Amino acid sequence: MCFSLQSSQITLLLLLPHFTTLRLSQCLFSPNHGTKTTLCPFVCEPSRALLDEKFKVLVKNAAPGAELTLRSFHQAEKNHHWEAFGHYVCDSSGTLNLCEDLSLGGTYEGVEPMGLLWSLRPVPGSKAGLRVRKTNVEIPMEVTISVYQGHLSESFSEHTAVAAVLVERWYMAPGVRRIPVTEYNLTATLFLPPGPGPFPAVLDLWGGGGNLVEYRASLLASHGFAALALDYLTNKLTVSEGRMMKNDYFEDAYKFLEQHPQIAGSRIAMLGLSFGTSMTLKMAVYSEVMKLRCAVCYSGSHIQPVKGSIEEIMNYFSENQEKTRINENQEIIWHDLLLPIPEDPALKVDMGRVQCPLLLVVGEDDQNWPAYVSAMDIKAMMEKAGNSHLLTLLTYPNAGHLIEPPYTPHTRTSLFRTAQTRHLCMVLWGGQPLGHSRAQEDSWKKTLAFFREHLYGRKNTADV
Ligand SMILES: *[C@@H]1O[C@H](CO)[C@@H](O)[C@H](O)[C@H]1NC(C)=O
Repeated sequence: MCFSLQSSQITLLLLLPHFTTLRLSQCLFSPNHGTKTTLCPFVCEPSRALLDEKFKVLVKNAAPGAELTLRSFHQAEKNHHWEAFGHYVCDSSGTLNLCEDLSLGGTYEGVEPMGLLWSLRPVPGSKAGLRVRKTNVEIPMEVTISVYQGHLSESFSEHTAVAAVLVERWYMAPGVRRIPVTEYNLTATLFLPPGPGPFPAVLDLWGGGGNLVEYRASLLASHGFAALALDYLTNKLTVSEGRMMKNDYFEDAYKFLEQHPQIAGSRIAMLGLSFGTSMTLKMAVYSEVMKLRCAVCYSGSHIQPVKGSIEEIMNYFSENQEKTRINENQEIIWHDLLLPIPEDPALKVDMGRVQCPLLLVVGEDDQNWPAYVSAMDIKAMMEKAGNSHLLTLLTYPNAGHLIEPPYTPHTRTSLFRTAQTRHLCMVLWGGQPLGHSRAQEDSWKKTLAFFREHLYGRKNTADV
């Protein structure tokens, strides 16, 4: 026989009624160190939510003081298995609340309501260098959260969970539209928020691995911004004609957005991570076409031949290959490639010419790019030039290079194929799980607020 929550209790748990279906999982069994069978209703709420939303995990009516393990399991694309778990002790009423109660051990410790997501890691025996990257954003990331008796750390498949719930983490909120774009020969995907618009827009660039990466743009659209994910390194023309795009490729993407009937053409921003930051800073300062309202740059640098095309910038990096370091685990560290910071003004974007608000996000343990050192130089350049009032700088201790949307599992090192050489290598990104997770959560919140302020003109308001 199974317990079910009273409706009054359920009401307390509801967070986002428009986007929520409540799923209760029921206890299969729950032996209580003896003869009595206790019941343990288990709820994760909301069980269907956006990727960047918090959930609440509750266990009720377990045995008082029961030791339980909460475990999450994710089968990623390509069939790789990820897991996280925490060890808990129920209170005297047999209740466990992950928003309040401590994990005493596992893949995370302490009060970490979202630890079951951000500390996900490949199951033991997995091949090295995996990273969770969503390719199909039209279906959610699925995570199964299970409750086990006792404090387990391994061999979960040999134990039977006493309760389990399937959690869906969505990239596209209901009503968000995904539109493949080929105009101007672009390889891109436009995400539009629900409604008629016109919406302000974000041109979204990822880094040196290329490909059309949609999971951030789709989330931005879920928060009210049109967003164009752009493949500028492995796009159709580059591949078919064997040449890299010129900088006007970004201007074409901008023009596409500017002319789109559902986009507010005077309210366009750029967002870049890693090599995408190089491109964003370059276009923000030197493009005659792009009049950006604001720019957000993650984990990147202003160091580059400022007159260079994408290819020339990539070649400049390659010329510095001898500064690559390899650690004792044979992981590649590219941090020093652009160091020391050049004195030659032809080798760094003239940050004194930035005219729009700029948000810089850097991890202090970025092993892949000199993002922190570059941010300090950018700050000094802007102070000297008198435009530092446009700069917001966020730096995070123990955060690495891959600062992604909140609760994305931390990946300290992974297999990476550069768009230019197509070599597959084990790259060290840096960061520690907890510090990195904090950075992802905080920087995303501030990125959305920054876009709301500069694209919608709303300060300190909740989600649009
Ligand atoms: C697209 O690329 C092809 C091949 O390079 C070129 O002939 C054509 O003019 C391009 N179209 C646009 C709209 O730029």
